[in-house]
Amino acid sequence: MKTMAFGRLASLISIALAATQITNAALTKRVTCASGHVTANAACCKLFPIVDQIQKDLFDGGECGEEAHSALRLSFHDAIGFSIHGGKGNGADGSILIFNKTELAFHANGGIDDITSRQFPVFQETGLTAGDFVHLAAAIGTANCPGAPRLQFMFGRPPPVAPAPDLTVPEPTDSVTAILARFADAGFSPQEAVALLSSHTIAAADVVDPTIPGTPFDSTVGTFDTQVFLEVLLKGKLFPGNGSQPGEVLSPLAGEMRLQSDFAISQDSRTACFWQEMINNQNFMMSQFKAAMAKLQVLGQRNLIDCSDVVPVPKTLTAPIKFPASFSQADVQQACKALPFPKIATVAGPAPTVAPV
Ligand code: HEM
Ligand SMILES: *[C@@H]1O[C@H](CO)[C@@H](O)[C@H](O)[C@H]1NC(C)=O
Ligand SMILES: *[C@@H]1O[C@H](CO)[C@@H](O)[C@H](O)[C@H]1NC(C)=O
Repeated sequence: MKTMAFGRLASLISIALAATQITNAALTKRVTCASGHVTANAACCKLFPIVDQIQKDLFDGGECGEEAHSALRLSFHDAIGFSIHGGKGNGADGSILIFNKTELAFHANGGIDDITSRQFPVFQETGLTAGDFVHLAAAIGTANCPGAPRLQFMFGRPPPVAPAPDLTVPEPTDSVTAILARFADAGFSPQEAVALLSSHTIAAADVVDPTIPGTPFDSTVGTFDTQVFLEVLLKGKLFPGNGSQPGEVLSPLAGEMRLQSDFAISQDSRTACFWQEMINNQNFMMSQFKAAMAKLQVLGQRNLIDCSDVVPVPKTLTAPIKFPASFSQADVQQACKALPFPKIATVAGPAPTVAPV
């Protein structure tokens, strides 16, 4: 009796399992490429060797280095040339690569020439359109940074037809009101703007203070963690280079740069709680950043194919973040009054000097 009942239950379970498998198969039709890779759409197969080529020729074999950081910044500067009201460029179209003479002359694109000139020959090798190239490179470069979400990649942008106009890219000297207005004009809420600023966890400045190129915005520039959201709140005490520069405010650590815009956004009542919520909240930050990037990287584009499974899977981070050595809760300039501040331990030892990248 017992055996029979168990047998019936087991077969009911296997019928139920088979039914879910059929449903899953119907929802996601999988294709096996000649290369052996599995993907959602046969049109994505040609991207697998291109991903390998970009890793080799642009990212030094898959590193979260300067090219990876700059590829992410480039995708922002390309895509944000867009307005939901029209009249401001075609968004995530690769225009910054093709119309580089025009777009690189804009003040906000200072330092971008390094990555466009580095990308140009690799872009030509791949045969992709400039838009697909810029936004695939950003997804791959970001994936090379431990802790990053695996970004979506949508495929099939047409070649760009015109440069974006000037004054679409926010500057660190802009007010929070101006920055939020620019993001809103491109279709992003204040919360999405903060989510996109997670990118500054893998960022460094070359041109804000040209005497100290490669000066990071946080003490863990090689990992996609939430450290930047914490460090921007620490009491500032120094300028890392040749004194105060436009767009720069006091930083808490030698060798670290703080952007005026990041600090202002961390303190503004419209954004302070979104900013604070990111701190030591790795999974939340990853999902918010991923969603905002998915929106950014298709601005102005239509009829794209989801080729997200060509994007490499990033390494995960599990350890909680820490205050840099010598810092504690007493150094936090907490601007969000509505939420308790997360409990965070401190790295042992004397205050670090952040090394340039
Ligand atoms: C309020 C909006 C923003 C402002 C004012 C801003 C400003 C800046 C500035 C001044 C730099 C340093 C440039 C240099 O001196 O070399 C920088 C670097 C960077 N930004 Fe932003 N940014 C903003 C939003 C974003 C967004 C939305 C992204 C990406 C989604 C992004 C990604 C990066 C990255 C990855 C770097 C580092 C590039 C590298 O290390 O080569 N930024 N940003
Ligand atoms: C600009 O584009 C040209 C091709 O039109 C390319 O040869 C050059 O390397 C690019 N320069 C920069 C700085 O991006
Ligand atoms: C440092 O800053 C001073 C004044 O702000 C400026 O005159 C000088 O040229 C700067 N030095 C360098 C090496 O850029």
